Amino acid sequence: MSKRPPVDATLTTAWQELSQHATAFQPDLRGWFAADAGRVERMTLDAADLHVDLSKSLVTPEIAQTLLDLAEQVGLAERRDAMFSGERINVTENRAVLHTALRAPADATVMVDGKNIVADVHAALEHMYHFATEVRSGEWKGITGRRIRTVVNIGIGGSDLGPMMAYEALAPYRHLDLECRFISNIDPTDAARKLADLDPASTLFIVSSKTFSTLETLTNARLCRDWLISNLRARGLMRVDDKAAISRHFVAVSTALDKVAEFGIDPANAFGFWDWVGGRYSVDSTIGTSLAIAIGHDRFAEFLGGMHMMDEHFRTAPIERNVPALMGLLNVWYRNFLDAGTHAVLPYSQLLHRFPAYLQQLTMESNGKSVRWDGSPVTSDTGEVFWGEPGTNGQHAFYQLIHQGTDLVPADFIAFANPAYPLVDGEQDVHELFLANFFAQTQALAFGKTAGEVRAEGTPERIVAARVFPGNRPTTSIMAPDLTPTVLGQLIALYEHITFVQGTVWGIDSFDQWGVELGKQLAQQIVPALGEDDEALKAQDASTQALIDYYHRHRSE
Ligand code: F6P
Repeated sequence: MSKRPPVDATLTTAWQELSQHATAFQPDLRGWFAADAGRVERMTLDAADLHVDLSKSLVTPEIAQTLLDLAEQVGLAERRDAMFSGERINVTENRAVLHTALRAPADATVMVDGKNIVADVHAALEHMYHFATEVRSGEWKGITGRRIRTVVNIGIGGSDLGPMMAYEALAPYRHLDLECRFISNIDPTDAARKLADLDPASTLFIVSSKTFSTLETLTNARLCRDWLISNLRARGLMRVDDKAAISRHFVAVSTALDKVAEFGIDPANAFGFWDWVGGRYSVDSTIGTSLAIAIGHDRFAEFLGGMHMMDEHFRTAPIERNVPALMGLLNVWYRNFLDAGTHAVLPYSQLLHRFPAYLQQLTMESNGKSVRWDGSPVTSDTGEVFWGEPGTNGQHAFYQLIHQGTDLVPADFIAFANPAYPLVDGEQDVHELFLANFFAQTQALAFGKTAGEVRAEGTPERIVAARVFPGNRPTTSIMAPDLTPTVLGQLIALYEHITFVQGTVWGIDSFDQWGVELGKQLAQQIVPALGEDDEALKAQDASTQALIDYYHRHRSE
């Protein structure tokens, strides 16, 4: 399977039919709702705890059926099964893709190279849980005997965004006496500001890097190591050697345990994972150590349990009732047939304020590709730009374009029946006001407001056109009772699988990320040009030389 060339989706009969549907397409959500009393029921699905309303999608039953045909014709089910069974579907890196094994129950079997990896996964989790419990209880102490009060995760990309997003999302579940901070950017401002008010004696650093070779992370790790030692000394707290201090204040998460040891971190304080976990799919591995410390063993296990529930749904539900499959196929329809270049994710939950940023790496690093897994050029447009902000903030910023702009922006709206923090304004439950906005926005986007309706409100004729809402702007509404660890796990796995479905249709390897390499290499070559190395400067293109020249003229001595 993994070695098989991708099916060219554009050559399937389903693709041809979708093209015909698109040519004659007259979206009419008002008409479709009026004519079809069963639409909402038919197009609303439950997957684990997620309640997903697809009825405001821009599809007729015929188009929906043709998308299912497309799934069949590109072999979606076979490729899904190949992923779950550990085939090396990440062909450019010759790796299995088994983030789903990270949340498999202990009695599951997942074979890689003739070995059941589930036991290893659970051993690594137990190691992490044990450590997290020690930090939470205060049993793990810093070098001066103080308990840990601040955990600083040093990582970037998948080694930052997942734990950081989940730490924010699960704020109500955090340990009250422990704070996590996340240093990711090589902009020294990040480390400077995050460290500024910390007590070194009660700070624990987790260096999180799959490869343990990422410039940003290793630079920040060194900065933090120096900060720790110099601040312990300055406060007269260091009565032992650096190594002893580092062993109480630095742990690491990586697949490259040899490099961890080279950095000076005690291998006993290193948490491993495996090359079959992609960085952007790794929040459920030991990369989640900071999160496990924040929310504890039981909640982290629930988080993994939620992911597993969604995995099981994706693995076993028939495609026509399979939420990630349907959402992925709808995205293909919007991207390839209705020319939607972007996709908004709009959580009506302040706790999910970093969820769109997290999804940007998941979706765009996975599917922003121009070649297929056999190296041939893609035959259609691929990954859309994912973006978003929590509602209602976005309503007062960019929703204007979604409602009345010239681009089609499909949007996922996410909300919870219960607030994490119930508050009332006089008699008014504020969460209800919030939800009213959630419901109103998808209604306005779907059904719009006609010129006749605008006129009927007495609007002067000269501004009628400006006040018309065209409607037929597609949305998916995702609801759950509460934003619990389980539900967050389900949401993450949902989007992982949506991403996989789209990648499968486009025939691309959604698990490599070669497009990040060139910039990294060039940055290394440019470093000497910023100093005194004239040869390195002359080797740059004219624009880069001029920009570096500007930098030289304006930097303070
Ligand atoms: O540069 C991109 C990337 O490789 C991501 O895919 C990854 O999540 C991130 O860098 C961090 O990598 P690492 O965990 O190896 O430090």
